[in-house]
Amino acid sequence: MKKIKRIAVFTSGGDAPGMNAAIRSSVRTATSNGLSVMGVRFGYQGMIDDDFIEMHHHSVSNILQRGGTILKSARSKEFRSAEGRKKAVENLKKHDIDAIVAIGGDGTFRGASELYEEYGIPVVGVPGTIDNDLYGTDETIGYDTALNTAMEAIDKIRDTADAHDRLFLVEVMGREAGFIALETGIATGAELILLPEAVKKLDYIRDTLKEVFKVQRRSSLVVVAEGDQTGGALNLAEKLKDDFGKYEMRVSVLGHLQRGGSPTSHDRVLASRLGSAAVEALLNGHTSVMAGVVSHKNTLTPMHKTWSEKKSINFELLELAKVIR
Ligand code: F6P
Repeated sequence: MKKIKRIAVFTSGGDAPGMNAAIRSSVRTATSNGLSVMGVRFGYQGMIDDDFIEMHHHSVSNILQRGGTILKSARSKEFRSAEGRKKAVENLKKHDIDAIVAIGGDGTFRGASELYEEYGIPVVGVPGTIDNDLYGTDETIGYDTALNTAMEAIDKIRDTADAHDRLFLVEVMGREAGFIALETGIATGAELILLPEAVKKLDYIRDTLKEVFKVQRRSSLVVVAEGDQTGGALNLAEKLKDDFGKYEMRVSVLGHLQRGGSPTSHDRVLASRLGSAAVEALLNGHTSVMAGVVSHKNTLTPMHKTWSEKKSINFELLELAKVIR
């Protein structure tokens, strides 16, 4: 493999708190190993549009604690076509890029794998998504911050729900995975948690909530993952609207607030570890792998496995939620 002298770093897909910490760590690991670094703005779209910027040690000062991503992000449709990827590679060549650090989720890694398979450009991935739905790392960058943001929001909803003895359906993010719903549900004492990984029939949902009201005669909180089979909190509310008599129902969709904010210390440390591990992996000749942390140890997982293998939720937590509700 050609000696790596210059790398590109970018963020792509939905942003996640801690992406900046990962950029900082990659850039500084690279520069301290004598590499030069280009940042690509707006992910794959920026690669196509030739939106490259030189990065140095000081380009990443004072960003560790900031949410969002200084390199911006995008979901590029154009990059999905062979023509789009060709343009991106022409620009990578123009800037003498020898290897790439790709920070994002499964869409980002699918694109990165294509760059390697079609053009032989070494790529290493850093898992950055609040959804935590990537195989090969116990946690993704941004997940812990999103959990804490959602938990604080739901605690506030609990106050008002309790004041009015209401039933609240709270929708949290997670297009295809229920990690956020499961852990925020436990952390906020939700009476019911609905996830795509554990489909519940409408009758079960109805009976469980009626039982809760009968026993407790107070507020009830259901945490629903965006990707749940019920179709999310608004759809579920429509289906349950005539079922709870005097108990009024309200819906709250937390939405993109879960993606913002300053990363927790956990996410900052994780991002710092993984951003650096990705550059080290490239320098050690690895490609088409994702840097992760499994059981507290740094790992490298073949990129295709990060989406082809399914990371399971912890079903014991779901059982626990039933016992302690
Ligand atoms: O992938 C992270 C995520 O926040 C999902 O939970 C959510 O479904 C999606 O991104 C929303 O994407 P967008 O910001 O493009 O609407």
